[in-house]
Amino acid sequence: MLKLINELEAKAIAKINESKNVNELNEAKSTFLGKKSPISEIMSKMRDFTVEQKKEIGQRVNVFKTKIEECVNKKLQAIKDEEVNNKLKSEEIDVTLPGKKFSDGYLHVLTKTIEELEDIFIGMGYSIAEGPEIEKDLFNFEMMNLPKDHPARDMQDTFYITNNDLLRTHTSPVQARVMLEAKGKPIKVVCPGKVYRRDEDDATHSHQFMQIEGLVVDENVSMSDLKGALTEVFRKVLGEDTNIRFRPSYFPFTEPSVEVDISCFKCHGVGCPLCKGSGWIEILGAGMVHPNVLKMAGYDPNKYQGFAFGIGIERITMLKYGIDDIRNFYTNDKRFLKQF
Ligand code: PHE
Repeated sequence: MLKLINELEAKAIAKINESKNVNELNEAKSTFLGKKSPISEIMSKMRDFTVEQKKEIGQRVNVFKTKIEECVNKKLQAIKDEEVNNKLKSEEIDVTLPGKKFSDGYLHVLTKTIEELEDIFIGMGYSIAEGPEIEKDLFNFEMMNLPKDHPARDMQDTFYITNNDLLRTHTSPVQARVMLEAKGKPIKVVCPGKVYRRDEDDATHSHQFMQIEGLVVDENVSMSDLKGALTEVFRKVLGEDTNIRFRPSYFPFTEPSVEVDISCFKCHGVGCPLCKGSGWIEILGAGMVHPNVLKMAGYDPNKYQGFAFGIGIERITMLKYGIDDIRNFYTNDKRFLKQF
């Protein structure tokens, strides 16, 4: 009988240790300790044994039971430990792995040009003003001395939202807004922003582009102040040996009006393909603020004068970096945009 219990014990321990999970372990436990287990059967036959045997077998059965309980508990702990280990392993993070790389942002080259110009103008005492891109006919045209039937409106055909609201064709309407707001006080501002024209897009035209407008209004402002300011700016942007020249031109909102050329920064005035052999490059429109424009915005033209200019941001950027197609700025080819 004792031999039987020894064999039973060895079998039970083997079965318990083979269990892979709590279910299997419980099954093994009830097989060897439960009501229908061989050990229970032995117990139920106890009365058939002698007193001597009863004592011996009883003790052995007790050792069996304790040993099996212990074994089960040990295995249970082992199964639980393993579960925790597996969970930890599945959640393991390798802190030595290289991190995810986020590509750095960079400024659009047109933004760079605007910021560079703004910095220079701020250094010269100008402040920055902005106006809406959806503009009133009143500011875009009327207050710029372009009444409804003025033929010069033709050069700046645009996109209309209503009869009176349109996408502004230049940053000049900001002039009128700034003057109305300043209520007769002196002004020194630059106004950067997007403008729109009903143009066919090609290498040098875009239906949407950018300008930076300048406006200085004060007593005793003259053309030479305009020339001095623009010379200073372009020497800073394009090089200290840059010269500028004025050619007579026409804008309804300035009188006199000028077209401003800069000396070619590539050939320094000798003549090359960039300046088409002339040594000069046309760069912007400017002039003395028309007395009508001053009057409409509440300034007495007999006391105040002003100069104004409008610089094309794309044009300057194209010249500076040798870009030959304006569409490059707007087609979002990263290979192009990343260069700057
Ligand atoms: N607004 C003009 C244009 O877009 C440029 C300009 C501005 C000319 C200020 C003179 C004075 O063509």
